[in-house]
Amino acid sequence: MTTSTDFSLTRQLAAYIPVTLTRRILEKGLPPVGVPHGLTAATLFADVSGFTAMSEELATDGPRGAEELNRALMLTFTGLVDVVHNMGGAIGHYYGDAMLVYFPDKDRLAAQRALACAQMMQQLMDASLSRIVTNRPPGKEPVFDLTIKIGVGYGRCQEIIVGDPKRILEFVLTGPAVDDVARAEQHATSNQIIISQTAVAQAGSMPQADYALFDEPPISPPPAVPILDWSAYDKAALARLGEAVLPFIPQALVERFAAAGSLAEHRPVTNIFVQVDFAGDEDDSSAIETAEMGQQLQAYYLWVVSVIERFGGENAHLSRVLTGDKGNQLHIIFGAPVAPDAPEQAARCALALQAEQPAYIAAQRIGLTAGKVFAGPLGSPARQEYAAAGAVVNLAARLMQACPDGEVLLDKATADRVGRWLRVEPLPPLKMKGFLEPVTPYRAIGERGAARLENYLKQWARPLIGRDQELALLRERLDAALTGSGGAAAIQGTTGVGKSHLLAAGMRAWREKGGHGLLGVCFRHTTETPYAPWRAIWREMFGLTPDMSVDEQVTAVIEQTHALVPGSGDDMGLWQEALGLPIPQAETLSALTAEARQARFFMLARRCFRALAAKQPLFIALEDLHWADQVSLKLLDDLSAHLDDTAVFLAFTFQPEESLTLETLQRPSCLFLALTDLSADNGRALLSQLLGVTALPEMVERHLGLRDREGRDSPVNPLFLAEALQVMLEAGAVQINGRVRVNEAQLAQMQVPDTIHGLLLARLDQLPPPGRDLLQVASVVGRQFALDPLQVVSGELSRPHILDLLGELSQTEMTRLVTADPEWIYLFR
Ligand SMILES: Nc1ncnc2c1ncn2[C@@H]1O[C@H](COP(=O)(O)OP(=O)(O)OP(=O)(O)O)[C@@H](O)[C@H]1O
Ligand SMILES: [Mg+2]
Repeated sequence: MTTSTDFSLTRQLAAYIPVTLTRRILEKGLPPVGVPHGLTAATLFADVSGFTAMSEELATDGPRGAEELNRALMLTFTGLVDVVHNMGGAIGHYYGDAMLVYFPDKDRLAAQRALACAQMMQQLMDASLSRIVTNRPPGKEPVFDLTIKIGVGYGRCQEIIVGDPKRILEFVLTGPAVDDVARAEQHATSNQIIISQTAVAQAGSMPQADYALFDEPPISPPPAVPILDWSAYDKAALARLGEAVLPFIPQALVERFAAAGSLAEHRPVTNIFVQVDFAGDEDDSSAIETAEMGQQLQAYYLWVVSVIERFGGENAHLSRVLTGDKGNQLHIIFGAPVAPDAPEQAARCALALQAEQPAYIAAQRIGLTAGKVFAGPLGSPARQEYAAAGAVVNLAARLMQACPDGEVLLDKATADRVGRWLRVEPLPPLKMKGFLEPVTPYRAIGERGAARLENYLKQWARPLIGRDQELALLRERLDAALTGSGGAAAIQGTTGVGKSHLLAAGMRAWREKGGHGLLGVCFRHTTETPYAPWRAIWREMFGLTPDMSVDEQVTAVIEQTHALVPGSGDDMGLWQEALGLPIPQAETLSALTAEARQARFFMLARRCFRALAAKQPLFIALEDLHWADQVSLKLLDDLSAHLDDTAVFLAFTFQPEESLTLETLQRPSCLFLALTDLSADNGRALLSQLLGVTALPEMVERHLGLRDREGRDSPVNPLFLAEALQVMLEAGAVQINGRVRVNEAQLAQMQVPDTIHGLLLARLDQLPPPGRDLLQVASVVGRQFALDPLQVVSGELSRPHILDLLGELSQTEMTRLVTADPEWIYLFR
């Protein structure tokens, strides 16, 4: 059977996946996603040096430079790829201008094949590819020298496809054989072949060292057959392949295939490199051995894709999952093949990856740089990938390597560009491989000016599960409010059911559409403090911070009130009581009755919000109104009655309590949302979000409240579910260590408290005394609270002392129980 030319496009597209996978699809169809396939293979890592320098140099020639680079890359790789394919190897991925090759071992000759292949590649470079002559403008150096260094390894590895067959897929090669070859290559310098101990042994020699130079005369290659023989497949198989291969290629690229013209160019691109450690994976190998690890990689991949989609449009994509001796890495690209490079959006995306990190991830380290790079197809017509390469890309990878867990590092040029929107902070300069001058990394911290709200929202960063209907209703009202028909939403439910999470989702949607947000929180101990939640809102509105002197604060309030409400005159003095600041009182005010003063003040507050909303739509969030003081509720009622013709949205949460009387609840402009427990299936979805694993044994589900005594599905409180799971993990009754292990005997003995309060107390009991006492005090205050009230409640402890104690607590296993940032303290996360 022959392939007709109709399938030339299919073959062109299939060059974007390894020949091993092409063959598998042709013969059996696309493998299931998230399921690792183990095999033994020899591995080869070949790194061509000289392209980065060449790319930087040719970038000065304009579009023609990119074309020349493209030609040089094609020329070099076409020769090398042919050698690999003829020797029975497959190219897993390109890593910039390096390639990872593997030779599945069916006859125990793969290591010898890899070695022979390495030698042939070396010879080819020496003989015809080491000097590249380019076509450049007069006066510019046209000749470039290239060298190659190669590592050879051997061992077990896993092929795995992750993603969604309908949208986006990625091939990943992981495992000891990959780690082995990455280390071998690191030992190599130009023109060398370094072979690992395992590969030497497999090739039939005595190992000299863990990683040794291989400089013997050319060995005679063992017989080899290319993995892929196109002539063996019929039209139906090729048609299947044509379908299956599309999700492996960025959509924007597929579209440009149809249109003629070259894709190679030097263009501004933002690069994000993410190094990820999966929880419970102690050795830093990249292996994805078990089904659960496959599921976790799959969950992680889809999650990252969803975060990228949130911050980028068609200008952003997850370019590659790469593996090496340090585990798994991602390369995310903003700005190629479709503009813009949007470094500030990319940085927000990176910060979101950190803030929303799923529980099955132990740590991520992120490097991010923006600048001009070579972007285009890399490789040969037989095997290529769309990639970005250049010094800027390398720098992002180096920043990632230097990055502490949980951080995002930028270089100076990128920090300067995003600094208008985001807070960044320089760190001490570092020497980095491949860079002559020390590099000053910048830590990305977060949005400017919204730190308080940002820190608060961090707790509910994960996607909301279920609640589709509630969210849809809320979004509808939000959209109306954004365009000037203000409204309100009342979110009611028992503790832990997800009120704050829904509120946070609403706030996030609002801000993504350009709105501004202000937040006030009520506490158990502030039920008698007038305007307690509003005070935080106004302080934020006026930009008052604790490091400002009282005089400065007074001045700020007066000036800004004048600016917002011209002609407010004497009414200015009304802020005195509301803010607790010594703002001068005019006689006219002192003469008013308390009632009249209040009415005047409500009007002033209303006008301020109205003026703010005229500049930018305003979302006012009030948390835990069951603890609100009376006048705060009255103000809320007043505002909701008067602001429905402006872009103001008032949203508040409260627990069902008879004593809460609020007229707002009766108004048609107020959306009432009563939350109840999650269905068992949504509870399972939450578990999968927390663990990356979908199915847990029935016994565990029963302990978690997902099933009743008869084993039937049962609705569950999400906080209870998460905390009960945590209790089991802490006790070791359930272990997630690459796979889920259940210690049934221990689980049977365990008393998992059946209320949230019980869970909290049980976990507090495990703590050392000083911290425990502090948190016992705190737990009375609420599930999350500000530091200042804690200081009041705990009496004699000083602020630094409290921070120290909390710092210590969050270092222990109790990390999930308490986290402290300068303002907010969370019990339970
Ligand atoms: N639908 C959901 N999807 C994912 N996670 C959820 C969902 N609902 C709640 N959670 C998680 O459960 C925990 C408790 O939710 P949340 O803090 O929103 O409760 P709450 O109703 O505000 O409780 P409280 O009255 O104590 O403030 C949080 O960690 C939250 O992220
Ligand atoms: Mg809450």
